[in-house]
Amino acid sequence: MKVFVTGATGFIGSAVAAAFARAGHETYGLVRTPGKERLLEAAEVVPVFGTMEEPDGWRPAAERCSVLVHCAVEYSEKSWDLHRAALGALRDAGRDRIGRVLLSTSGVWVYGDTGDGAIDESAPLDPPTFVAPRPAVDAAVLSWNGGGFRTLVIRPGCVYGGPGSLTASWFESAGKGGAARVVGDGTNRWAMVHRDDLAELYVRAAESGLGGEVLNATDRSRATVNECAVAASLAAGADGRVEHVPVEQAVAAMGPFATCLALNQHVDSWKAVHRLGWTVRHGGFVDAAPRLYASWKAARTETA
Ligand SMILES: NC(=O)c1ccc[n+]([C@@H]2O[C@H](COP(=O)([O-])OP(=O)(O)OC[C@H]3O[C@@H](n4cnc5c(N)ncnc54)[C@H](OP(=O)(O)O)[C@@H]3O)[C@@H](O)[C@H]2O)c1
Repeated sequence: MKVFVTGATGFIGSAVAAAFARAGHETYGLVRTPGKERLLEAAEVVPVFGTMEEPDGWRPAAERCSVLVHCAVEYSEKSWDLHRAALGALRDAGRDRIGRVLLSTSGVWVYGDTGDGAIDESAPLDPPTFVAPRPAVDAAVLSWNGGGFRTLVIRPGCVYGGPGSLTASWFESAGKGGAARVVGDGTNRWAMVHRDDLAELYVRAAESGLGGEVLNATDRSRATVNECAVAASLAAGADGRVEHVPVEQAVAAMGPFATCLALNQHVDSWKAVHRLGWTVRHGGFVDAAPRLYASWKAARTETA
């Protein structure tokens, strides 16, 4: 299949584009920053230059593809407008053409604090402020499913592996300040997933006949944030030290994003397992922390 991925130079999108290419699909990736096209070429992904601000520039390339994947995000005040613009262009590239599929990246934070009992895709949404517009974006994507055009919303947990994304801050703070920094008391649990397992789910979802569904993407690890941070701190040579930042103080410094880091979540992904035969191959952050630290450091050296 021909595949078009937005955000193909990003943390999730680069793994997703590479997974499609590895699976033998002719894969195209949107690049906005000159120089980053080399990352795609190394993974046998064809770069298409453009931005979410100007989807007309890349829509023709997307129109030639039957799998349309949205992984781009810009963390600015334009963020949700850009999501809508990019998704609208992908919808126009896909709908009214039988056999096309759109995969849109959402996230488990839309469920809010779930407590310790596992929830699935049927749970009510309770998004914190930082992701408040996300449910409406997801609902729009699902409403486009039909007439031979399949749309799916994928909700990853906090993604780890390689450059690390959210988990990178534990390594970074442990390396710089001598303690892995955690927002809140750290007794909460994040729903998590390794990015290579996540990327494999996108490929399976595209290759399936599934449409009009939300798919959670999480592993079965149930470590607390403190346990993850201790493992990160040990891996980074900070003797397992962890520093707790009160949520209000973190919000003052980082904005509403910080409240998401203090959520306690248990999110089930059995729909992806049972309907798509998805297998999580990675066993969780804690055991892998030493090699995840090495991978994070190597990724920093590469981009320096
Ligand atoms: N990371 C996680 O743990 C996690 C968990 C759940 C859900 N998610 C969701 O997954 C999605 C992807 O997250 P991520 O962590 O992969 O983000 P990321 O690493 O920040 O990647 C963002 C990508 O979007 C591109 N981009 C940014 N602004 C753009 C613009 N104006 N036009 C075109 N491209 C633009 C970036 O290009 P450059 O390389 O040029 O900057 C990059 O390729 C987001 O919606 C996020 O909320 C992430």
